[in-house]
Amino acid sequence: MINYKKKIAEIICEAVEGLTLEEVMSMVEVPTDTKMGDYAFPCFKFAKTLRKAPPLIAKDVAGKLEGNEAFAKVENVNAYVNMFLSRKGFMEEVVKEAVAEGDNYGRSTIGKDKKVIVEFSSPNIAKPFHIGHIRSTVIGNSIYKIYDFLGYDTVRINHLGDYGTQFGKMIVAYRKWGNKEDVIKSPIKTLLEYYTKFHVEVETDPTLDDEARAVFTKLENGSPEEVELWQWFRDESLKEFHRVYDLLGIAFDSYAGESFYSDKMGRIVDWLKEKKLLLESEGAQIVDLEEYGMSPALITKKDGSTLYITRDIAAAVYRKEHYNFYKNLYIVASQQNLHFQQWFKIVELMGCEWAKDCVHIPFGLVSLEEGTMSTRHGRVVFLEDVLNKAVEQTKEIIKEKNVATDNIDETAKMVGIGAVMFQELSNNRIKDYVFSWEKVLNFEGETGPYVQYTHARAASVLRKADAESVEKAKKVPALDMSHVLSDSAYDLAKLIYEFPQVIAEAGDKYEPSVVTRHIVDIAQSFNRFYHDEYILVDDEAEKLAKLALVMAAKNTLKNGLYLLGIRAPEKM
Ligand code: ARG
Repeated sequence: MINYKKKIAEIICEAVEGLTLEEVMSMVEVPTDTKMGDYAFPCFKFAKTLRKAPPLIAKDVAGKLEGNEAFAKVENVNAYVNMFLSRKGFMEEVVKEAVAEGDNYGRSTIGKDKKVIVEFSSPNIAKPFHIGHIRSTVIGNSIYKIYDFLGYDTVRINHLGDYGTQFGKMIVAYRKWGNKEDVIKSPIKTLLEYYTKFHVEVETDPTLDDEARAVFTKLENGSPEEVELWQWFRDESLKEFHRVYDLLGIAFDSYAGESFYSDKMGRIVDWLKEKKLLLESEGAQIVDLEEYGMSPALITKKDGSTLYITRDIAAAVYRKEHYNFYKNLYIVASQQNLHFQQWFKIVELMGCEWAKDCVHIPFGLVSLEEGTMSTRHGRVVFLEDVLNKAVEQTKEIIKEKNVATDNIDETAKMVGIGAVMFQELSNNRIKDYVFSWEKVLNFEGETGPYVQYTHARAASVLRKADAESVEKAKKVPALDMSHVLSDSAYDLAKLIYEFPQVIAEAGDKYEPSVVTRHIVDIAQSFNRFYHDEYILVDDEAEKLAKLALVMAAKNTLKNGLYLLGIRAPEKM
């Protein structure tokens, strides 16, 4: 696809000497008011560099641009040059590409041969799968999809919290009060109950703590009975996590969690010692970070056991050595900002130049509207509850509104779950937000169902057209867009044109909401076009051009939803 900013900059550089392509390109504007053109160039900003009066620069620039067939009109107003593209040429360019590329429209190769690790979700075994994990799961999945679409070589890692002293507590609790059937039936909830009970009982019986510590030491030393129990807790919990991931359509390439690094920690401690970074403090080993304005990081406890942060350092070193990443991304709640700042600094002090390639991508909190969910299971199975409820409610809406569907269960699943994910990705990730059912399932607001519904509307137009016309419209070389030059058609094409850049921007900012907002704009623009114009007209050439535009919009909506991890039903 033509990069218009670049094209304009090239022409301008021909017209005036002494400016670089990059600086001109960065100054080409897209005016908010379309009356000022599709693009504008502020010539007065270059008067100093060029030692020339702005009107003269503008005259040269406008003169050169006028001669180019890409532009229908070029105006010179107050040392601004306003450019109006030739709609026909532009629309043909955009629609052809978006139709021909189909599911790949917007894909790029910017990331070729660059490995990006996306670590997300990372729940803890036997601790609540809370809202923070949900956000990490949905945002992380979208960031992975965006990077994948940009051509990066991606690896999805679930850094499970499957290690640490809580396993000593859990094993003790299980042996004292547990039973096998309960764990199998409902692992996450049951293990959490044991964990909670342990904390209640330890109040009156402090020896439990010593017991738990001893059990954890046994586990660390590879004692078969403890290892077997640990493995079983992990396996059962994973089964349950898998159920939720399947519901969301999310997968991982690696489940190397904290336990994976249990035999890789000695080396880290030695390395820190060698670099003279470790200080002893009451028997524990710490790294002092006062110089960098941070509290000290605890690396090993008095009893020699390692901590969360030690395992993060070991994991990063392992990932660099094993994957040789270009970027190593962590989608983790902003409450852990300090944790990441601390260990990024430590890795840097260890002499790893790649510390700069580790990125913490934080997000804000979600609070729940009153009455959003039953507190029956606390927040443990919150996500599953929410998803199931969304699907149920969607089913009701589908029935009530008489929504077209071949398979109500399947559609309700796509729409209900998509709605929850879409809401999650609607706001800037760092913003705190309130989860609200009303907003989630609204078919008319700026929601997932609205975008999906618009996509299905486009699909329905294509179904209504005769198959032969649709096939012809797909044969894009013959396309003549001179029949579809209205403002609403043109505005839609402009948004379709911007889609690839929007994906790149979302990737640079690690911000899926950039995509979310853009596809809402496309949906609104499509609906205006649909409202303004009759598509299945008698005139063959006009019909084909309009069908092609519908197809281009449909592909873009579908791909946008895909990048958010959401499916697009053909009917609803
Ligand atoms: N399991 C952690 C938690 O639930 C999140 C892990 C984040 N990732 C990391 N590499 N520290 O808080």
